[in-house]
Amino acid sequence: MALKPVGAGAQVELAGLDEVELLAVVRAQPRPAHVAIIMDGNGRWATRRGLPRVAGHREGVKTARAIVRAADALGLRYLTLYAFSTENWSRPEDEVSTLLRLLERAIRSELPELMERNVRLRVLGRTNGVPLQVRRGIDHVVQATRDNTGLTLMMAFNYGGRDELIDACRALARQVQAGELRPEDIGEKEIQQALYTADVPDPDLLIRTSGEMRVSNFLLWQIAYTELWITPTLWPDFGAVDLYRAIAEFQGRTRRFGGV
Ligand code: FPP
Repeated sequence: MALKPVGAGAQVELAGLDEVELLAVVRAQPRPAHVAIIMDGNGRWATRRGLPRVAGHREGVKTARAIVRAADALGLRYLTLYAFSTENWSRPEDEVSTLLRLLERAIRSELPELMERNVRLRVLGRTNGVPLQVRRGIDHVVQATRDNTGLTLMMAFNYGGRDELIDACRALARQVQAGELRPEDIGEKEIQQALYTADVPDPDLLIRTSGEMRVSNFLLWQIAYTELWITPTLWPDFGAVDLYRAIAEFQGRTRRFGGV
């Protein structure tokens, strides 16, 4: 396969550029359509300040708001945020319940701004196990924004990458059982369409904050050729300038998609 340079300007020296300059670099080149983020480090941010972990999650909500605004201003088509993984249920009960409440309230209170910005909210994940009130609150925003045509904000909530693949296999198996699909007709397209992200292009760029070098069961199928960008910055300290830097570095990379 031919080389696929991401951006025309490619090797721009980024070190030392301020926010305005970085933004100009990003705007001058093709932007990724889909950016996914593993928002990590809320707990550490709080612990380092002698605060309870939930204080970090509260700050994390502010960062998420700022990043949605920045993504919208940049004209990204899709932004996926890993808000709550299936593994997160194993945290202390009070952290889990506070986190769920916080996420539901944050989403609900953002509805006017999401409407104003023409942002559509989609949720990736299993609905079972999520408290009814939380589900209803989030569903309300999903329904209210469903016809918006700007940025699609995808919140991975009660999400697990392996669970997503299991659910896709089950859906395809049901189609085979019903005689609607032959096993030999199952290919990448059919699997892609059976995932929670049906009709959404794979992420071009995956950002992870707080320095961990893992993908943590996130979008396992979809990130096969995604560019990774990992920063030691903790999520509450992450800002628009970090997003611009990640995208500017991405624009300078050459994507090979398995070719030479
Ligand atoms: C990581 O911190 C973050 C989460 C568990 C996800 C919760 C995210 C937020 C509250 C941000 C807001 C998001 C939206 C969509 C409104 P951590 O607790 O894993 O940090 P640690 O690794 O330092 O313990």
